[in-house]
Amino acid sequence: MTLRDDDRLGGRLARYAKVTGAVGGLAAQFAANRLLGTPLDEARHAEALKAALGGLKGPVMKVAQILATIPEALPADYARELAQLQANAPSMGWPFVKRRLRAELGEDWRDRFASFEETAAAAASLGQVHRATGLDGQPLAVKLQYPDMASAVEADLRQLDVILGLYRAYDRAIDPSAIREELADRLREELDYALEARHMALYRHMLADEPMVQVPAVVEALSTRRLLTMSWLEGRPLLSFKDAPQDVRDQLAINLFRAWYVPFHRYGVIHGDPHLGNYAARDDLGINLLDFGCVRVFPPRFVGGVIDLYRALRDGDFDLAVHAYESWGFANLSRELVETLNIWAGFLYGPLMEDAPRLINAAEKPGDYGREQAARVHARLRELGPVTPPREFVFMDRAAIGLGGVFLHLGARVNWYRLFQDVIDGFDVAALADRQTAALTAAGLTK
Ligand SMILES: Nc1ncnc2c1ncn2[C@@H]1O[C@H](COP(=O)(O)OP(=O)(O)O)[C@@H](O)[C@H]1O
Ligand SMILES: [Mg+2]
Repeated sequence: MTLRDDDRLGGRLARYAKVTGAVGGLAAQFAANRLLGTPLDEARHAEALKAALGGLKGPVMKVAQILATIPEALPADYARELAQLQANAPSMGWPFVKRRLRAELGEDWRDRFASFEETAAAAASLGQVHRATGLDGQPLAVKLQYPDMASAVEADLRQLDVILGLYRAYDRAIDPSAIREELADRLREELDYALEARHMALYRHMLADEPMVQVPAVVEALSTRRLLTMSWLEGRPLLSFKDAPQDVRDQLAINLFRAWYVPFHRYGVIHGDPHLGNYAARDDLGINLLDFGCVRVFPPRFVGGVIDLYRALRDGDFDLAVHAYESWGFANLSRELVETLNIWAGFLYGPLMEDAPRLINAAEKPGDYGREQAARVHARLRELGPVTPPREFVFMDRAAIGLGGVFLHLGARVNWYRLFQDVIDGFDVAALADRQTAALTAAGLTK
């Protein structure tokens, strides 16, 4: 018996719960300062927050990172600090891992691998990843979930409600209710590795004709709802290419763009977590796409709205823009509101309108991509009354902002217009709907 090991994990999980509390506490302090109009020492609070969160990661990290993308839900320094937090989860020791594997795969679990590394190769937000080898010699990645993560996620969601409640009390620019529902659904889904396995199969299907994007293959026989075994993909962090020649960085950006936007524009599916740990670059500059814990399937008309809005902005067609926002579920659109939303859309779509190689946005700093524009739009929204962004908006927006930041980090000079035209070539909502249904069915997912 290794009770001590359990105790230690228990201690770590308790610490983890305390961190979740710390985020809420700091947010409360921030909101109180805001309400009273006293200046807040943002930098100092951000430091405190970082110290509290230091070395930990979990569902709370995802909540915090997404909060950081809602303009002014958190002060700029908080947002910056949160975005920088590195994955370093408390790890399960070998005796505990063995017990978990036995529980998931049965007494003979060890006979089902040729080798299994005792030390985790990487931290995961709800567990950890071990390297192993299959009986056929295939290198494997084994993602093992901590026990009792469901209650950790529910605790995080309660914290999220506290933070959003405070946000509502001092700021009426954005009604976050739909955002909250979207976050809750995705966070709960992330607990289910069997669903993640099907999402991985969906991505292999959608990207089958993209030789420069690789997706791991699930090993069904060695997977459960809490254990995901897949092929190991060897790669290097994207940012280790920061000093590589221009054409190398451009190629990486192109491959990353296709990894995200071929599934979105052809199938209406987005990978909602463009975090740097969720992809790696191969020696041939192909992209390994990982982590299918946050996948969003959109109604086809929503993607139609994305294309309509692109055309509306390109042609200065106000009515088409209104139609696009309405097809996304925005209601009660005044002229001013449409013009304000168009500022944000113009920021995101701008690089796709110029038929020439360029930085994604020369005026932006990589870590703050979009922040200043978002603040400006947000200030206008505060005057115009609350707008309720449709829930589909959350991860689409997050992908655009996340990837934009990475393109800037890489200093990629790419003809984004051409890239986008290639991806949307022959776009048709009905055809997308058919492709989506076929892809979901092939992956064992039904709507
Ligand atoms: N198939 C794989 N091949 C190689 N490394 C992997 C693989 N899957 C995951 N990893 C490593 O494990 C880390 C955590 O896995 P990930 O699926 O991102 O977990 P989480 O959903 O908790 O973020 C990744 O950042 C990566 O370093
Ligand atoms: Mg990940």
